Amino acid sequence: MPHLALYRKYRPSTFEDLLGQEQIMKVLHEAAKQEKLAHAYLFAGPRGTGKTTTARLIAKIANCETRASNASFRAKGEPCNTCATCRAIDEGHLIDVIEIDAASNRGIDEIRNLKESVRVTPSMSPYKVFIIDEAHMLTKDAWNALLKTLEEPPAHVILILATTEIEKVPPTISSRTQKFYFKRAALQEIVKKLKKIAVEEGIKISNEALNLIATSAEGSYRDAESLLDQLVLFGDTHITLEEVERMIGKVGFDTLSHFSELLLEGTLDEALAALAEIENGGFNLAQFTKDVIKYLRRVAVLATNPKMESLFKEELMEEHLQMIIKASKRFTTAHINLLEALIEAYGEMRYSQFPIIPLEVALLNVLPKK
Ligand SMILES: Nc1ncnc2c1ncn2[C@@H]1O[C@H](COP(=O)(O)OP(=O)(O)O)[C@@H](O)[C@H]1O
Ligand SMILES: [Mg+2]
Ligand SMILES: [Zn+2]
Repeated sequence: MPHLALYRKYRPSTFEDLLGQEQIMKVLHEAAKQEKLAHAYLFAGPRGTGKTTTARLIAKIANCETRASNASFRAKGEPCNTCATCRAIDEGHLIDVIEIDAASNRGIDEIRNLKESVRVTPSMSPYKVFIIDEAHMLTKDAWNALLKTLEEPPAHVILILATTEIEKVPPTISSRTQKFYFKRAALQEIVKKLKKIAVEEGIKISNEALNLIATSAEGSYRDAESLLDQLVLFGDTHITLEEVERMIGKVGFDTLSHFSELLLEGTLDEALAALAEIENGGFNLAQFTKDVIKYLRRVAVLATNPKMESLFKEELMEEHLQMIIKASKRFTTAHINLLEALIEAYGEMRYSQFPIIPLEVALLNVLPKK
């Protein structure tokens, strides 16, 4: 059987399944129950947070055959996901749901034809749904074509624009749409979803490994799921932290925090030895330095203002946050030199043939000898 990418297999098929976007879901779920979908939507937010998924949910709500024939099911405000129409939408080949990638050449042609295309009634389903992805890439001509349609959308048309860069969408367009802002995924939410996938797929994976995958996905469910996918394809069904570290070239939280502790309180020889070991492990040192800077920055921020703890809740596991809070109690103004030296080293090492040297020099300059 061909391997179905995890992120496709586990794409939420109901509003209920969509994580972390409660506000959006409430509004759309209610609209679906009451049959009050808008004619134009604008979805903005970072990659991998559910924009395309939600657009397809709307397409299914609009065209689901079970909903059309069964009023009590319709009142649930979800698609059935089993009728031929729902299935065709999931597979991306329902003729009346047109997905356009504005970033591609084909997309430009398709937008050019949009004005005519929206006039033609749908061939099989009640609604023609146009999903325009990467909408910020549209040209001026394309925006004009779109504006005409938005000014007088035919009754059978739903337009959904998705973008990661909403500031590039002309106000004339965005003011004619119902707008939703998708949030970056919180670390815990990503971990929760990965755990669920692991259970269903029979993958054994440690919490630290899951945490590193989720951290490196930087707020994108898709990136996290794709990484898990790669690990499964690459290895076995038992994934360790070391495997994740090797795959992405980033160290896990424990190594990061241990090294940062040495910088805050250890001696030069201890820190140099730990660094040499990390280099031997084949890790990307610029990436590592960036992670150390981020770690110490959080320590510094919390040392100055403990209330900012809530800011980091979305980005860190609870036990990791506690370690950073503990470290912040030992942070002094003298450590600001350290942070500055690391930032300078980071700037240099990205262009250096020997990235370890700027980092070692930074340590030599700021850490006590013994
Ligand atoms: N809010 C979410 N809840 C659960 N899974 C999600 C969510 N957002 C994205 N995903 C996962 O990431 C994949 C890609 O999501 P997608 O909707 O295509 O993101 P984008 O915002 O880039 O359009 C989905 O198939 C799903 O597995
Ligand atoms: Mg998308
Ligand atoms: Zn259906």
